[in-house]
Order: sequence, then structure tokens, then C-alpha cells
Amino acid sequence: MRVLVTVASRHGATAEIGSAVGRVLADAGHLVRECAPEDVESLDDVDVVVLGSAVYTAHWLPAARDFAKRWQDELRARPVWLFSSGLATQPAASANSPHELLALRERIGALGHRSFAGRLQRSELAFAERALIAGARAKEGDHRDFVAVAAWAGDIAGQLAVMPEPAPAVPSS
Ligand SMILES: Cc1cc2nc3c(=O)[nH]c(=O)nc-3n(C[C@H](O)[C@H](O)[C@H](O)COP(=O)(O)O)c2cc1C
Repeated sequence: MRVLVTVASRHGATAEIGSAVGRVLADAGHLVRECAPEDVESLDDVDVVVLGSAVYTAHWLPAARDFAKRWQDELRARPVWLFSSGLATQPAASANSPHELLALRERIGALGHRSFAGRLQRSELAFAERALIAGARAKEGDHRDFVAVAAWAGDIAGQLAVMPEPAPAVPSS
């Protein structure tokens, strides 16, 4: 199937999680395209969408939220999986606006949502970001678990394997 992996990321850590998901799906035989959410111009040639975002100050980044809003009808008509990446851990993860994610998931009929640990490198942060994070007890470093990411992507591949192939589009005359 033709899979779009689209990820909102400020410093690249979440985008790399998306790429890892894409590699697993490509290895499973799918045609994977990666594109930033704001650059997507059509979902006509897309059968499946994986949409991810880094979490900043408890919310998904605007590019991912805007994408979900802009393509809401098209997303409802396709299998969609969502993922978030951040540094809040349980039970603090409840600070990451779970109600917003639930509402989004219901609005577009997403088949699943998964949260992954992210990466914090103070040296690459903008001044305002450093000031914001100073009060939080976020641990510097790369906390991404690519084994868990690959397992989640493998689970998606397993679900796609038992889904019927989408009917080819009928060319308009
Ligand atoms: C200013 C700032 C605010 C953040 N706020 C949150 C937050 O509210 N919840 C969370 O889980 N992680 C938060 N994080 C951690 C980021 O989500 C994490 O560093 C993520 O991996 C960054 O992904 P990116 O490199 O794709 O932008 C914050 C990080 C920064 C620098």
C-alpha cells in the first residue's frame, strides 16, 4: 500500500522516529513516502497515513494539528495511526493533553495512538526553549527507544497485511 509518514518536529528527533516507522513499513513491502505535514498537497495517492508530532508545552505542534484539521475528511476514509514523542513520563504524561489526542483520534477515526520517549539536547534549543525547560525536570539525552518504535511499526504492518487492498482509482473520462 502507499503509506504517507508525516511528522511535525522542531529539532529532528520525532522526524527520525517517523523515518524508523517508515523503514519497517517499506521492509514489509509498502511504498513509503515521507513529507512534512505542511507540504502535503493531496492524499489522492495515499492509502495509509502515519501522523506524528513532538509534544511542546503539552500540545502537539501546530503543523500536525493543522494537518489533521485540513485533511480530516480524507483521513477518516483511510487507515491512520498517530504517534507522539515527548519527555513527560507516566504519570506526568497525563499533562500532555490526553483529551486533545482522544478528540483528534475520534475526529479522524485513527486506529491507534502511541507515545514514545523523545530527545532533549539543551545545546540545540533556542533561548526561549531553554528558559521554558529550565523549570521542568526533563532529563537531557536521547531517550528514544527504537526497538519499541520498530515493534509498533511491525504491529501496523501486521494490521495492514490483513486489510483489503484499496480499489484502484477510476480514471475520470
Ligand atoms: C521548550 C520545550 C517544551 C517541551 N514540552 C514538553 C511537554 O509538554 N511534554 C513532553 O512530553 N515533552 C516536552 N518536551 C520534550 C520534547 O517533546 C522532546 O524533546 C522531543 O523529543 C522533541 O522532538 P523534536 O526534536 O522532534 O522537536 C519539551 C521540550 C522543549 C524543549
